[in-house]
Amino acid sequence: AENRRESLMIVTGYAAKFFQESLWDTEEGKNIGLSYFKERGFSNDIIKKFELGYSPDQWEAFSSAAEKAGYQPEFMLESGLSVKRENGTLYDRYRGRVMFPIHSFTGRVIAFGGRTLKSDKNVPKYVNSPESEIYHKSNVLYGLFFAKKAIRDFDNCYLVEGYADVLSVFQAGIENVVASSGTSLTVEQIRLIGRLTKNITILYDGDAAGIKASLRGLDLILEEGLNVKVVSFPDGHDPDSYVRQVGSTAFKQHIEQNRQDFILYKTNILLKDAGTDPIRRAEVIREVVESIAKIPDSIKASVFIRECSHQMQIEERVLLTELNKMRLNKS
Ligand code: CTP
Ligand code: MN
Ligand code: MN
Ligand code: MN
Ligand code: MN
Repeated sequence: AENRRESLMIVTGYAAKFFQESLWDTEEGKNIGLSYFKERGFSNDIIKKFELGYSPDQWEAFSSAAEKAGYQPEFMLESGLSVKRENGTLYDRYRGRVMFPIHSFTGRVIAFGGRTLKSDKNVPKYVNSPESEIYHKSNVLYGLFFAKKAIRDFDNCYLVEGYADVLSVFQAGIENVVASSGTSLTVEQIRLIGRLTKNITILYDGDAAGIKASLRGLDLILEEGLNVKVVSFPDGHDPDSYVRQVGSTAFKQHIEQNRQDFILYKTNILLKDAGTDPIRRAEVIREVVESIAKIPDSIKASVFIRECSHQMQIEERVLLTELNKMRLNKS
């Protein structure tokens, strides 16, 4: 099994090199892929560091090069780089896309995300590697290999949704950033971060999906015993688009000035929906206490209860009674 894993990583490593060469050394790659990255504001340094690439807009560019170079079809298929036709020949999964290699914790390329350059709604925006012996999507965070030192140094991890968010935020000088890559955040991903820091700051997209995902994410993070804060972005923006609009200095300021404790964040969002209806406001209080009840450390939980009591103008005693009820129901 170790041999198979190694064989797979040799193929994905070769593919990463192939896509990089095609980005930097071919006319098509330079004209289409590289100019796309440039338009998005990515520097040469960041493109090289993250080993971004381009897959030629042909059916067999990668597959035939890999076969010629002696790679075994078995591993090209298992890694998802090639797909088998009915007649047994192979074609490329990624064609005419900019390529984001996904690295393991130790920096090996284990998978890819490929972004289309078309704005056609019928074309999937991202094509990602399938699950394989070396790639378990739920156990991987995009960018973690490049971020891990900064995560330890700053004792905090910024969590974004997408590939481009990681690149833009990293390029702005905030290197402790990783992406959950669209898949809703998993417990395994939180535990990976938890080996490096106990502090996570969520920077999800400023749309309904991003808000929903951040509310779900913060409960999971609390359950794992980590601390969580949230920074919101204006609707229609994600960290990547926002940093490009305001520049890196203002972006960092935005993060510093809008970093909200999870209680404040959740309360604000839910209260906005509830308006002045007292029954719905009571429901909000219950939901916030539900999040606090997920914190395994009871001393920490009681500190948050106090904060909640101040913010919502509710007696601490009432909140504690609720909290204890919820805890009893859980165990
Ligand atoms: N994603 C995916 N497949 C899709 C859409 C999204 O795998 N069809 C994942 C990607 O990892 C993507 C992330 O979810 O980066 C966030 O999605 P979205 O916000 O829609 O894309 P952006 O990252 O903002 O993409 P871009 O800025 O390139 O348009
Ligand atoms: Mn495995
Ligand atoms: Mn989104
Ligand atoms: Mn985006
Ligand atoms: Mn986005």
